[in-house]
Amino acid sequence: MPELLHTLQVDLAAATADRSYPIQIGRGLIADTSTWQPLVEGRGVILVTDDHVGPLYGEAVQAALTGASQLTEVVLPAGESHKDMTSIQKILDAALAEKHERGSLFVALGGGVVGDMTGFAAACFLRGADFVQVPTTLLAQVDSSVGGKTGVNHAMGKNLIGAFHQPQQVVVDLDTLATLPAREYAAGLAEVIKYGLIRDAEFFAWLIDNVEALKRREEAALAFAIERSCAIKAFVVAADEREGGVRAHLNFGHTFGHAIERIQGYGDWLHGEAVAAGMVLASRLSVLRGTLDSEVVDQLTAFNQAVGLPVAPQAGVTTQAMLEAMGSDKKVSGGKVRYIVLAQLGEAVVAENVTDGDIARVIDA
Ligand SMILES: NC(=O)c1ccc[n+]([C@@H]2O[C@H](COP(=O)([O-])OP(=O)(O)OC[C@H]3O[C@@H](n4cnc5c(N)ncnc54)[C@H](O)[C@@H]3O)[C@@H](O)[C@H]2O)c1
Repeated sequence: MPELLHTLQVDLAAATADRSYPIQIGRGLIADTSTWQPLVEGRGVILVTDDHVGPLYGEAVQAALTGASQLTEVVLPAGESHKDMTSIQKILDAALAEKHERGSLFVALGGGVVGDMTGFAAACFLRGADFVQVPTTLLAQVDSSVGGKTGVNHAMGKNLIGAFHQPQQVVVDLDTLATLPAREYAAGLAEVIKYGLIRDAEFFAWLIDNVEALKRREEAALAFAIERSCAIKAFVVAADEREGGVRAHLNFGHTFGHAIERIQGYGDWLHGEAVAAGMVLASRLSVLRGTLDSEVVDQLTAFNQAVGLPVAPQAGVTTQAMLEAMGSDKKVSGGKVRYIVLAQLGEAVVAENVTDGDIARVIDA
């Protein structure tokens, strides 16, 4: 029996209320026809997945899509290296070859890579078709499936081609996490604890207290952590859909994290692992600026260690290399790196007056 544990609403600005959408969190959802009936009844469906997730869950989803008038499955090769225009072309080719119409629904079954690409393909198809996110990684469940950022990478950089395109619904099925590899799961926890740091001190404390339950992927703990994370992401997206202001706070730890990825080479660490180390550095920067208690850094460090996340860049990553890499980050505005720091636990702010000396002290600490 399916069990719906939480339903949240992403409330976009009143003028665009038609683009507001629900996030359902539960178990047994993706294999249940009642999840799909209201979404697909009488419409064509283009189910997009990858060659890891498709064999695990594709059949169950297809069996539940009984109301669809037509069903096309597109299975892409898994991984960030395939998040490119070639994959978009494959999705669009399949949709056009099978004569789907603008009323057809794209369904993204997979992690953030599949979600970002399916959303972008849907945004492009016949000038814009609907899509549903069915995130199957923890990272996608708490982050990438909510907020409408879609796109692909370009040889010049990550996520450089894309569109804002909000899904019709997000279906988070906790059962899918059972097959997620441990490193991918931990990378998702890095984004979860980020929400506590930037917006919710109580949630941060809860995460610290419940780290063992989270490690064991206990359902109640997971459901709560995902619900709180999605609620915070939904709130931030509703307040600032296109990242003019508060949405930038979601990049806490990411300026450092992107630099670490760039120096260490993509593909070595997962993005979430680099962000985890980046958040320790960003928290230390906040302590240095006198706004954060150093106990928070200790708690974050202990959390990372408990779940198997790094707490610092790999040996050999120099301050100079970090400064250079951060200077060329795409979040640089008007020639200045905009660091997200904590004004206190649970409150992120943008800091523009950070000196190279501050960064050196944080990295060399
Ligand atoms: N749109 C946004 O707002 C946003 C936000 C954050 C990240 N992203 C993007 O998300 C992507 C990263 O997403 P990700 O971490 O989910 O990576 P991913 O989609 O590559 O998934 C990670 C790996 O896990 C596999 N997998 C997925 N679900 C599984 C499951 N249930 N069981 C077993 N294996 C499973 C995938 O096949 C893949 O090999 C990046 O491209 C990033 O740019 C987007």
